[in-house]
Amino acid sequence: MQLDPESLAVRDRYLLMIATILPRPIAWVSTISPDGVPNLAPFSFFTGICASPMTVCFAPVNDRNGKKKDTLVNIELTKQFTVNIVNEQNAEKMNQTSAPYAYGVNEFEKCGVTAIPSTKVKPFRVRESPVSYECELFQIVRVGEGALAGNLVIGKVIQFHCDDEIYNAGKIKHQDIHAIGRMEGAWYAKTNDAFELPRPEVA
Ligand SMILES: Cc1cc2nc3c(=O)[nH]c(=O)nc-3n(C[C@H](O)[C@H](O)[C@H](O)COP(=O)(O)O)c2cc1C
Repeated sequence: MQLDPESLAVRDRYLLMIATILPRPIAWVSTISPDGVPNLAPFSFFTGICASPMTVCFAPVNDRNGKKKDTLVNIELTKQFTVNIVNEQNAEKMNQTSAPYAYGVNEFEKCGVTAIPSTKVKPFRVRESPVSYECELFQIVRVGEGALAGNLVIGKVIQFHCDDEIYNAGKIKHQDIHAIGRMEGAWYAKTNDAFELPRPEVA
């Protein structure tokens, strides 16, 4: 089977992507409006970029009317956000925060998620996440225009947080995080069936 994306509806392209780019880590992104209302939502078009500078990125898409997501609106206005890692323990609450609440609704309160202060940015962190990144906006790359277009938000990490019990002399074991990944539809993957594959060396 071969398919030219140009011959497909946007929805069908999206379905192909979410069923084949797997599993996707989930950035649970916290922002704050200029007048101080917190916002929290998950994004699985998410990854790290590099460690110099330490950077992460995620992609909020516009809705079918071309309207920006609340997360993007807040980041454009305040230039700050936190990314909180999603695991088996906080998955249910993460999912609750993905509902299309109106701008100005505080998903921390609405969904019973615990907001704790950040050190260097105004947006809160999620107490239920084992790992959080405090970010300042590095760049927004517009990918397409209008309805369903993407916005790649690149953040520079200016403070890293993790629970004390998972941190050991600069190292964290993935087994202690119980991270989950998003699959297609309402499916998620656990990360407890990992295997090791040492990198080859050239003599
Ligand atoms: C696990 C998960 C991953 C998601 N990933 C994305 C994504 O990568 N991009 C996106 O635009 N929406 C994504 N969504 C949908 C947003 O979370 C949803 O539109 C949310 O209402 C946006 O909130 P906001 O308007 O407060 O920013 C995802 C939802 C879930 C449950």
